[in-house]
Amino acid sequence: MSSNSSNAIESVLQEQRIFSPSKEFSSKAKIGSLGLYQTMVDEANSDPEKFWGDLAKKELHWFKPFQKVLDWSNPPFARWFEGGTTNLSFNCLDRHLDSERENKTALIWEGEPGDVRTFSYRELHSEVCRAANALKSIGIGKGDLVALYMPMIPEAAIAMLACARIGAPHSVVFGGFSSEALGERLRDGEAKAVITADGGFRKDKIVPLKVAVDEALAMNACPSVESVLVVRRTKESVSMQLPRDHWWDELVPKQSEDCEAEQMDSEDRLFVLYTSGSTGKPKGVVHTTAGYNLWAHLTFQWIFDIREEDVYWCTADVGWITGHSYIVYGPLSNGATTVMYEGAPRPSNPGAFWELIQKHQISIFYTAPTAIRAFMKSGRSVPDKFDMSSLRLLGTVGEPINPEAWMWYRDVIGGGTCPVVDTWWQTETGGVMISPLPGATPAKPGSATLPLPGIQADVVNSEGETVSVNEGGYLVVRKPWPGMMRTIHGDSKRFRESYWEYLQPKDGNFFYFAGDGARQDSDGYFWVMGRVDDVINVAGHRLGTMEVESALVSHPAVSEAAVVGRPDDLKGEAIVAFVSLESGRESSEELISQLRNHVGNEIGAIAKPDEIRCSDSLPKTRSGKIMRRILRALASGQEVIGDTSTLEDRSVLDRLRS
Ligand code: PRX
Repeated sequence: MSSNSSNAIESVLQEQRIFSPSKEFSSKAKIGSLGLYQTMVDEANSDPEKFWGDLAKKELHWFKPFQKVLDWSNPPFARWFEGGTTNLSFNCLDRHLDSERENKTALIWEGEPGDVRTFSYRELHSEVCRAANALKSIGIGKGDLVALYMPMIPEAAIAMLACARIGAPHSVVFGGFSSEALGERLRDGEAKAVITADGGFRKDKIVPLKVAVDEALAMNACPSVESVLVVRRTKESVSMQLPRDHWWDELVPKQSEDCEAEQMDSEDRLFVLYTSGSTGKPKGVVHTTAGYNLWAHLTFQWIFDIREEDVYWCTADVGWITGHSYIVYGPLSNGATTVMYEGAPRPSNPGAFWELIQKHQISIFYTAPTAIRAFMKSGRSVPDKFDMSSLRLLGTVGEPINPEAWMWYRDVIGGGTCPVVDTWWQTETGGVMISPLPGATPAKPGSATLPLPGIQADVVNSEGETVSVNEGGYLVVRKPWPGMMRTIHGDSKRFRESYWEYLQPKDGNFFYFAGDGARQDSDGYFWVMGRVDDVINVAGHRLGTMEVESALVSHPAVSEAAVVGRPDDLKGEAIVAFVSLESGRESSEELISQLRNHVGNEIGAIAKPDEIRCSDSLPKTRSGKIMRRILRALASGQEVIGDTSTLEDRSVLDRLRS
C-alpha cells in the first residue's frame, strides 16, 4: 500500500472527532433528535409494512390505492404497493399546482456560458406535457424504452419527466460515454427512440453528442431505434437523417400543454440505468414506479431536512443515479427548488461552483469527495472570494470521504457551521441507505454513520455472520426496501446471483450484498471501505475492471490485459492496466497513448487508464488465473507479500516491476 493511502486508512481508524448538530439546526429540523430517529427505526423494524404503507399513503398521490404493501413471496423479486396506480411525473408536478407552489421556482438552470433559465412548477408542467405529447407524436407509448444522451440542460430533466408521464421507461446514458458504449446500451435495452442534443458545453469545449448518436446508429448496433429527437444547444451544424431525426424546437413547442399522466401500476418499469459490475457487460439496473418514487422522495426529505424556502443544488450529472434521484425526482417530488448546472469548475473559472452558490443563494449543496479534494488542493483562496453564507447544509456522495476532506468541506465551504451528510448508496439501491440525519445524528468525519429508518444494514463475513465491532466485512442489507432495484434488464439470473447469492450464509439467510466492504464501530456507525469486487471507483465514477480489460484486448496489439485500481490522493482510485502484447509488438510511448485513446473510444474518457505497463506476459497461477493480488501490489508500489509459490513464471514479476 502506498504511504498516502495507508495514512488515509490510519487516519480513518483513529478518527475520534464527533460533530453534533447545533441546537439551532436541530430545533428547526423535522427529525431533530436521535430519539426521534430511534423511534422511527423502532417503528420500521417492528412493523415494516405498516411503516412503509403509511408513508406511501401520506407522501404520494395515488390514482388508485394499493392493496398490499410488500409481496416478498418470491425473493429476491420484490413487489411493492401492489394494486395501486400512480405516476412519478404527476407526483413531481401536477400535485404542486393547486397550492402556492404553482408559481414557486421548480428548476434553476445555468449553462456553462452563463445563460440562465428558470421554470416555475406551472411552467415545468407545461414543458413536460408538450414534450410528452411530442414523444407520443413520434410513436412512443407506454412501455417503449427511450434513451437519453444529453448534456446537463433543462430538456434532460423535462425529457425524463415526459417519459415518466406517458409510462415510457427511460434509459439515461451519461454524455461522457463513447458512441460504442452508447450503442451497447441502446442495443441491450432495445431503445425505440433517442433524445439527444447537437452538443453540450463542458470545460470550455463542445461535446458532440449527436455525432456520437449517429455513429452508434450507423454501426447498425440498434435496429430498434426509430426516431431521434435533437435539442439545439450549441448550434453546431449536425447532420439530420430524415425521417428518423427531429429537432426538439420544431416538434415540441407546437404541442398541446395538456397531457394527462398515465396511470401506472406500482410495479411498472420506470427506468433502466446501466452501471458497471464485475463482468465486462454493464448491468441495466431496473427501477419501478411507486417504490422508487417513495424512496427518492423520503430520502430527499429526511437527509436534506428540506424546507419550503431552500434552494438545493446537486452537482451530479443526470446520467448517473445521483442525478436521477437527487437532481430531478427527489427534489421535485417534494416541491423543492432544484438547481442544475451544465458546466464544471475549469481553469478559466475555478470558482464556478462557489459563484453559483453566491448567485442563486443556494442553501443545500451536494457534491462528490473527488471534487472536494480537488478544491482543497487548489487552496481556500478561491472559495474565500465568494459569499456562501446562504449555505446551511452540505452533502457528499459517490465514494469514501477522507476525514481531512470532510473537515475542509465543513470549515471552508460550510463556514464551520453547516452539518455534513456523507451519504452511502448505489445505483441499485435507488436512493440513500446510510447517512446522518442532519438535525439528529452526531457526525464523525469519514463515516456515513447510521442506516436510515427501515434499512437493516449489517457487516458480515463470507458465511453471513455478523462480524465483531471494528472488524472489516461485507456490507449487506437484510430486508427489502421500497427503492431497491427489481432486476437486471434481461438477466434476472445475474440479479439473483450477483446481489443475493454472492455470500452463502450458513443459517440459510438471504440478503442483499452491495459489493462494498465496511466496518461498524462501537457506536454502530458504518465506515465504508470501498469495493471488494472487481469494480473500481475513479473520481466517483464506477467502472468494472473487466470492461476496461475487454476494451484493451479489442486492440490488435494486445493479447491479454488485467486492470486494477491503485489508491489515488485526488480521485480515490486510479486505473492501472497491465498489458501483454502480441508477439512482434514493442511497448512505446506512442503505443501506450494509442491504447489509452482506444479505451476512450470504446468506453469514454473516464475509463482511460492512468498508467499502462506492457510486458510479454502477466503473472498467472499454474492453472492460468491472473494473480490480481500481485498486480494490485505492483500497481501501488507495495511489496508483494503472501504466497507467490503458485506463480507459473516468477521472472514476470521483475519485468513488470521495472
Ligand atoms: O462503493 C460505493 C461507492 O459508490 C458505489 C456505488 O456507485 P454508483 O452505483 O455509481 O452510485 C454512486 C452514487 C450513489 C458504492 O458501491 N459509494 C457511494 N457513496 C459512498 C460510497 N462509498 C463510500 N461512501 C459513500 N458515501
